[in-house]
Amino acid sequence: MKKEKKLAKLSPLKVKKHSVHHAKKYPVIHIKKHPALKAKKHSSHRQTRPKAHHKENKRVPTGIPNFDELMEGGFERNSTNMIVGGSGSGKSILATQFLVEGMKHGEKCLYVTFEEKKKQFYDNMLEFGWDLVEYERKGLFMFLEYTPIKVKTMLEEGGGTIESFVLSHKITRIVIDSITSFALLFEDELSRREAALSLFNMIKKWSCTSLLTSEEEPTGDKKLSSKSLEFESDSIILLYFVREKNQRQRYLEILKMRGTKHSKKIYGFEITRSGIVVEKNPPSNIQID
Ligand SMILES: Nc1ncnc2c1ncn2[C@@H]1O[C@H](COP(=O)(O)OP(=O)(O)OP(=O)(O)O)[C@@H](O)[C@H]1O
Ligand SMILES: [Mg+2]
Repeated sequence: MKKEKKLAKLSPLKVKKHSVHHAKKYPVIHIKKHPALKAKKHSSHRQTRPKAHHKENKRVPTGIPNFDELMEGGFERNSTNMIVGGSGSGKSILATQFLVEGMKHGEKCLYVTFEEKKKQFYDNMLEFGWDLVEYERKGLFMFLEYTPIKVKTMLEEGGGTIESFVLSHKITRIVIDSITSFALLFEDELSRREAALSLFNMIKKWSCTSLLTSEEEPTGDKKLSSKSLEFESDSIILLYFVREKNQRQRYLEILKMRGTKHSKKIYGFEITRSGIVVEKNPPSNIQID
């Protein structure tokens, strides 16, 4: 009894010292091995991380205000995601904002484009405070002007120069802006779908999280040129720019996201001086069709 009282007064460190001799008699001293204590000491160690954090780490945040909250914290790591919208709907801005979020945290990012001209693109993005020249200088941003044919060749070669580039630079986020002209290289639905699958599998193999933009009105009919890409992608984000009375309003919707409990609502968003900001609450009545 006396010894028990004495032990209770001891600090965890002292308890540890005594525990060697008294382990059998005083099982209470196991407190020094409590996982919470271990986790505090070695918080970076994977096995000691609480489960909830582990799940969070599987998500790749976009940094777009009020957007990540709609999809369990961000895109799934190593997923391929489609951003579908008409001309001027905000695809390139959203995709770049996603890369900037990564670069802010030291991630290396690749922007592959078939259409955007580098100088104009950099100037446009600087409007939001995103200094791509500076990120490029730091070795975090890489801008690649590529043709759809070259992407096709890359697939046929099983990776080619892009693959060695991505792997040697340890790139973690990729944007392909846009994928539409690539999809149009394939005449029939089956070969288009096969190409989509091999492209997506290749990006996954590189351990990258990717956004692929697709130019089409999300409200269009079923003859979408990149429909097959959408079937193969892990998620689809639709961007709308619809006319309401005498002005247009922007909306965003998560149409699908594998393995994610995502919002089914349609949210308004604005393109502000610091990029896209999604409205916190969905509007009560909108009509999009
Ligand atoms: N600095 C800015 N501030 C506010 N809005 C802007 C700014 N720059 C562009 N926009 C808006 O964003 C639109 C262009 O967005 P973005 O380039 O992302 O569209 P997109 O969907 O990629 O279009 P496209 O299919 O033509 O490539 C412009 O038409 C304009 O309405
Ligand atoms: Mg664009």
